[in-house]
Amino acid sequence: KRPAGAPDKALARQVGKVGIVGAGLMASQLALLFVRRLKVPVVLTDVDQQRIDSGVGYVHDEIGKLAAKKRVSPDEANRLKALVSGSLDKAAFADADFVIEAVFEELGVKRQVFAELEQHVSPEAILATNTSSLSVTAMAEQLQHPERVVGFHFFNPVAVLPLLEIVRGERTDDAALATAFAVGKQLKKSCVLVKDAPAFVVNRLLTRFLGEVLASVDEGTPFEVADSALDPLGLPMSPLTLLQLVGPPVALHVAETMHEAFPDRFGVSENLRRFVEAGKRAVWTWDEQGNQRLDPEVAQLWQ
Ligand code: 3HC
Repeated sequence: KRPAGAPDKALARQVGKVGIVGAGLMASQLALLFVRRLKVPVVLTDVDQQRIDSGVGYVHDEIGKLAAKKRVSPDEANRLKALVSGSLDKAAFADADFVIEAVFEELGVKRQVFAELEQHVSPEAILATNTSSLSVTAMAEQLQHPERVVGFHFFNPVAVLPLLEIVRGERTDDAALATAFAVGKQLKKSCVLVKDAPAFVVNRLLTRFLGEVLASVDEGTPFEVADSALDPLGLPMSPLTLLQLVGPPVALHVAETMHEAFPDRFGVSENLRRFVEAGKRAVWTWDEQGNQRLDPEVAQLWQ
């Protein structure tokens, strides 16, 4: 059955090579997913060779783990590893059919990435963005071919969570959208078409949810009390563990975007801001017995 809003799949373009811009937390998980499911060459780029090496290294390690668990054969693991490469030079994207960016969550940065990509890729290549909250229309508007830009928003951990939000920008054409749905299906994700609105659907809800937990800490509720209050609902992880998984700087950026769009409904937690500005990434640490406890530095920061 065709997902709601998906164009005719006959319009989808074949994808024989994938480009990934970024080699961080989301980007390297995307590289793994694409190579595993599409089995086509995947090339990663980032701002320096060290980041690229670390992204490619992550994918190779994860393929090694899949082989150790016998989810892929040793031969298949070697084939998949050989399909993944890194390049500082975007000329390596010249023959890519589908390029997805997962760089810093800032409109200016993402616009620059797409403008630069247009110098290298063919006019038919699809440009996808894994943005969590920014406007796909705004990201495309200064391009020569804005019709090939589409939102393709995954959830962490990418290998596990089935949902994929597909976003049609104002200028996105049917071929780009049909290709996005076809690729999403090959990736074995549950694709839903969402409106190009701030934070789309899932992060809009999640930001409000995490925002209220953080606001209650800002107002003086002890950190552990606020974080465990919803335990009886059987959430897969506590709100502040989820914050750690998503990455506090990303959560802060999304909260700021939502505050700008809907100031009456979304606040930005002062504690979260202080935490990110102090360069902290982890809320929790685990002791040798495996017990989770609040990072002592965070406990001091968090007032
Ligand atoms: N990366 C990759 N795989 C992971 C993982 C990770 N960080 N964490 C767990 N997994 C895998 C495990 O390897 C295991 O796979 P297997 O069954 O094939 O061996 C499977 O997930 C289940 O793991 P566990 O049994 O260890 O743990 P749980 O059952 O507790 O599940 C969880 C872990 C899937 C992370 C679960 O806690 C969960 O769903 N948490 C909520 C995550 C969530 O809401 N994410 C959305 C964040 S919002 C977002 O990403 C949007 C962005 O734009 C901000």
